This record gives sequence, structure tokens and C-alpha cells, in this order.
Amino acid sequence: MPRRSAAERFAWRVEDLIGGERRLDFSKPFLPDSLARTEGMVWLTPGQRRVANQIRGAGYLHMFGLVEEFILPFVLDHARPQLQGDDYRIRALLQFAGEEAKHIHLFKLFREEFERGFRGACSVIGPPEAVAQAVLAHEPLSVALTILHIEWMTQRHYIESVKDDGDLDPQFKSLLRHHWMEEAQHAKLDTLMVQALASTRGGEEIDRAVDGYLDIGGFLDAGLKQQVEFDLESFVKATGRKLSDEERTEFIRVQHQANRWTYIGSAMTHPNVLATLESISPAARKRIEEGIAPVFC
Ligand SMILES: [Fe+2]
Ligand SMILES: [Fe+2]
Repeated sequence: MPRRSAAERFAWRVEDLIGGERRLDFSKPFLPDSLARTEGMVWLTPGQRRVANQIRGAGYLHMFGLVEEFILPFVLDHARPQLQGDDYRIRALLQFAGEEAKHIHLFKLFREEFERGFRGACSVIGPPEAVAQAVLAHEPLSVALTILHIEWMTQRHYIESVKDDGDLDPQFKSLLRHHWMEEAQHAKLDTLMVQALASTRGGEEIDRAVDGYLDIGGFLDAGLKQQVEFDLESFVKATGRKLSDEERTEFIRVQHQANRWTYIGSAMTHPNVLATLESISPAARKRIEEGIAPVFC
């Protein structure tokens, strides 16, 4: 383990990012369009597309709140048996858990700020405890693969989509940047967790764990579909725009696929996720890369 982690060098506090003068600017988009995919819905006015984008931003805050609720107990469970082990590793794992607790808090505060400034409440999937329970019912290697997926996904969102986007609301962009900074270290720790769990398992057990990871992906995908239906209702309430049946179908089609790319495809095609999959099962990499990921892109 490094003597001083990247996270220690770049430590930040939740209060530095939101609250007081730090407000969301609702005249700006919150998510880059490569994730939101709202600009392609040209049959909406520019203002309506921006509202749809902001609803996706609120969904992003909520989704990370959801996934971090199961990452935190999982990392703590993984840390506990290692308390007598390598001092650097145990400190790194506890720091990982502490940062996820901080991120849960951060996403909640942004969500509250969103609700203060947005027209109408947005329904969301959950509750987080039920999602965490369903995910944590899978075997540890399946959950570790899911967490690895989430950490690299965050890296990709920032580097490929957010970093060079000059149009985004500065506060939301700052949230994504600060989250990215700490997740880089998590991705490395997760890779070690996956390798440690895989090293004590045979080929069949690894295959079952990969199936479990895909089951969790399917469960999240069903949640995304439900979220898009909620988003459509939030959009109609916030804008007053009347949508025809065809427009509703199109909104759901475009937005479900945008959510799939954001939370599933962008991770399943990440070179580092694929490399870790290959290291535990070359067949699993091939199956996911060629047979499954394209559906989510
Ligand atoms: Fe996080
Ligand atoms: Fe993380």
C-alpha cells in the first residue's frame, strides 16, 4: 500500500462543495449530454431539454446514493477480517468506507439543494435499504465485481464526459470532479478485493459469481426503466408540456438507453473492468464484451 494515498493528498469536505453561497444554477445543464442524451430529443424546446437534463442530474444524485448504500457495508465487511493484517491495507479500506459515507452525505445535500430549486418533486426508485439488501444477498465476488464496475464507471464519466464540458452548472461539475478524485483510489482497492476473492475460488464458483454480477446488472436495469417512467412524469409536471403517446414512447426509449449507457454500458466496456474480468475468467470477458455490453451502449 502507498504511504500516502491519493485521497489523503486531495482530501475535501462536503461543506466545501454545497451549501451557503454554493447553489445550483437552474439555467444550466447538470449532466453532459453524452450521459443525459436529452439534446437529441429535438421535438422538445431547448428549455424543455434542459429540464429533462436536470431531472437526469437528480437521478444521478439518487443513483449514487443508492449504490453507495451497499458499497459501504460491503467494504466494512471486507475490512473486518483483515484488521490484524497489513496496516496500510486496513487503513486504505477504512478510508474507502469513510469516503463512501461522505459521498452518501454529499449526494443527499445536493439532492436537497436540487429539490429547493426545481419545480415540483421528482419520484425516485428505492428505498436504498431495500436495494442494498437485494444486492448484498448475492455472493461477495458478485458484489465486488459490481462495485468495481461502479468505480470505473465514475472515472469514465468524469474523464470522458464531464472534464472538458464548459456548459455544465459549476457546482454540479465540482461534485463530479471531487467524487472522481476519490473514486480513483477505490477502483484500485476494488481490483485487489476482486482478485483476493477470486483467488480462493475455482472456475465454477467464478462462473457463478459472474452470473451473480449479471443478475445484479439486470436488477439495476429494471430499476432504471422504472426511474425513466418517473422521470417522464416529473418532466411533464415541471414543464406543463403535453406529450402525445408517440412522444412518451420516444422519451422512454431514448432515456432508458441513455440510463443504460450511463450506469451499465460505460462500465461494462471500460478497459479496466474488462481486464479484471479477463484475469479471473477470459470466457467471462468475452461473453460480456461481445454478448452483453452492446445492449447497454
Ligand atoms: Fe463514491
Ligand atoms: Fe467509491
